[in-house]
Amino acid sequence: MKPLPIVVLISGGGSNLRAIIDAVEKQNLPAKIRAVISNCPDACGLQRACNSGIETQVVDHRQFVDRDSFDHALQQAIDSYDPELVVLAGFMRILTPRFVAHYQGRMINIHPSLLPAYRGLRTHQRALEANDTRHGASVHFVTSDLDGGPVIIQAEVPVLSCDTPDTLAARVLALEHKIYPQAIRWFTEGRLRLEGDVASLDGQPLMKPVYWEDSQ
Ligand code: GRF
Repeated sequence: MKPLPIVVLISGGGSNLRAIIDAVEKQNLPAKIRAVISNCPDACGLQRACNSGIETQVVDHRQFVDRDSFDHALQQAIDSYDPELVVLAGFMRILTPRFVAHYQGRMINIHPSLLPAYRGLRTHQRALEANDTRHGASVHFVTSDLDGGPVIIQAEVPVLSCDTPDTLAARVLALEHKIYPQAIRWFTEGRLRLEGDVASLDGQPLMKPVYWEDSQ
């Protein structure tokens, strides 16, 4: 199978990026990461990409007067690599509707909560404050509704009475590293699509997200 060209956007540590690179290098994920782009010049993930010989670029949001001009520059940078899928992996910027529309059906994100619960930030803390017994992560198509696009796959962990936001985040992150490559694999295989505002897998609308079993 011809590898699908993808571009990954990051802002920080890049552990999800690492998981995707590993899946490409060691698990035959049929993708070619053409570039990793960050809005933060000091994002550690840039070094991870370099170490794997992947091209990197920084589009620093602080150099732009407003969101529109940043998104325009970001779009130009992405499109210069002609990707078929744009993967947001810890990319901490709110995107303009025009930018999102440009990548409709070909941009996905990972979010550290069981969406629709806890859109936005501090998800682990909020799950603890609510005394939730389950928490997790979701991969979804990106729409102009922040963290509100159709969910593709979710994985969950039990919340332990001794959990802190950091311990909970670490367990969720370990599952993120499994479900993100899986969702990307489905997309590269042509099995996953956005049809209207519904995600579909193998031609079937996902009435609810696929649930990740850790034995997978
Ligand atoms: C992850 O928890 C992801 O769900 C969220 O940002 C974090 C990024 O982590 N969107 P990393 O940079 O991939 O380590």
